[in-house]
Amino acid sequence: MRARITSTEPFLSGDLQPPPDKSISHRGLLLALLAEGTSRLDNLSSALDVAATGSMVELFGASLETKGSVTLVESPGSAGLREPDGVLDLGNSGTGVRLGIGVATLVQGVSVFTGDDSLRRRPMGRVISPLKELGASIWGRGGDGMLPVAVRGGGLRSGVVHLRVASAQLKSALLFAALGVDGPVSVVEPTLSRPHTEELFTLTGVGFDEDLDEQGGSHRVTVSGPAQPSPFNFRIPGDPSAAAFFVVAASCIPGAVLTVKDLYLGPTRAGFIEILAQMGADLVLGDSHVAVKGAPLEGTEIGGRIIPSLIDEIPILSVAAAMADGVTTIRDASELRVKETDRIETTAGFLRAFGVEVMTLPDGLVIHGGLRPGSLREDRRRVMANLDHRIAMSAAVLGLLAGGVTEIDGVETVATSYPAFFSDLDRLSSATVHLDGAAKP
Ligand code: S3P
Repeated sequence: MRARITSTEPFLSGDLQPPPDKSISHRGLLLALLAEGTSRLDNLSSALDVAATGSMVELFGASLETKGSVTLVESPGSAGLREPDGVLDLGNSGTGVRLGIGVATLVQGVSVFTGDDSLRRRPMGRVISPLKELGASIWGRGGDGMLPVAVRGGGLRSGVVHLRVASAQLKSALLFAALGVDGPVSVVEPTLSRPHTEELFTLTGVGFDEDLDEQGGSHRVTVSGPAQPSPFNFRIPGDPSAAAFFVVAASCIPGAVLTVKDLYLGPTRAGFIEILAQMGADLVLGDSHVAVKGAPLEGTEIGGRIIPSLIDEIPILSVAAAMADGVTTIRDASELRVKETDRIETTAGFLRAFGVEVMTLPDGLVIHGGLRPGSLREDRRRVMANLDHRIAMSAAVLGLLAGGVTEIDGVETVATSYPAFFSDLDRLSSATVHLDGAAKP
């Protein structure tokens, strides 16, 4: 599917209710699977990535029922998990598949995982190796490095695992696996990554110890298994990574006014707000809302420990950098190379389609700003989404801001995280959004 965004006088105003948080939704479904009885998830994400996790949860033996805004998950609990009678296809979802591999170590029998063209190219060795260190039986294509992956459950022992990268997906896979181990499992990550699994452990009565080294930055979580989560009721808050597209759009347009409501704003997800404030954005933060007004932005430096808290927002922060005065340098973000696409190259690629001067680094980008709102209203450009929802949405926002006609091919990928993105863009902004059924070559 192709999107055509036409923009002459960029403007944006109104209230945004962002979609439910994707990271928390995945974990809510998986913890409900591990809890014996009925759990109630209010405001579960309707994104395709989360639907893929929902199908996995059903193949592991739970049943899902939707009643209004609530999803009821009824499960036999971790002791009654079923060997899936089909292949677990997680589509585009790195979080779904990596967390699922951790959960599969609790299942008696063999679970087989695959995904779409993008996910089958992404590294799985990073989750397979640490689980194997604990004694798990896992095989994957390319020397245990990629999907398809097969897991035979059981056989894990206690131990300490040191992760090379701060990754909530890897930490969470190990913490799920730890629930089935007789004895303590500690996971040490170099920097604190998003703690949604730990937050839901607390809610479901799973005990753990944690220790954050304030100086060195490392974070250790220890679970002493075997542990069984209890059924729970939980409302999923709005997704800051989805809201970021509109927060950046409003920040870049003089006179724009936007309020985003009902947002998860824990520190591990709000790095983009800190950076926008550093760039001069006019933002007022509440506990769960953000009010944004357009303001002149300045280039900045982004790197170090803040990176895990904004890794998904770098494509849209790069749009802010293109619209800011001066140069923005992004470092320490080599993880971008193993996302849905190599986001260092694909971010540079869509910025260049707008004539922005960009240099790529092994671990980041140097972006020369200075683009003015509406200054490209006579131009046209074409961008490929390449199965990367965040590249498609970032390019669409830059299309609104720069002006002119922006065609983006493969935009169906946006439904993996933010199905209503184009209708929100159409409603809140002055751009006209047209979606064509079939993409032409
Ligand atoms: C996620 C963690 C991050 C993030 C991804 C969602 C999660 O990935 O990029 O979109 O829900 O755990 P890493 O764990 O690989 O950093």
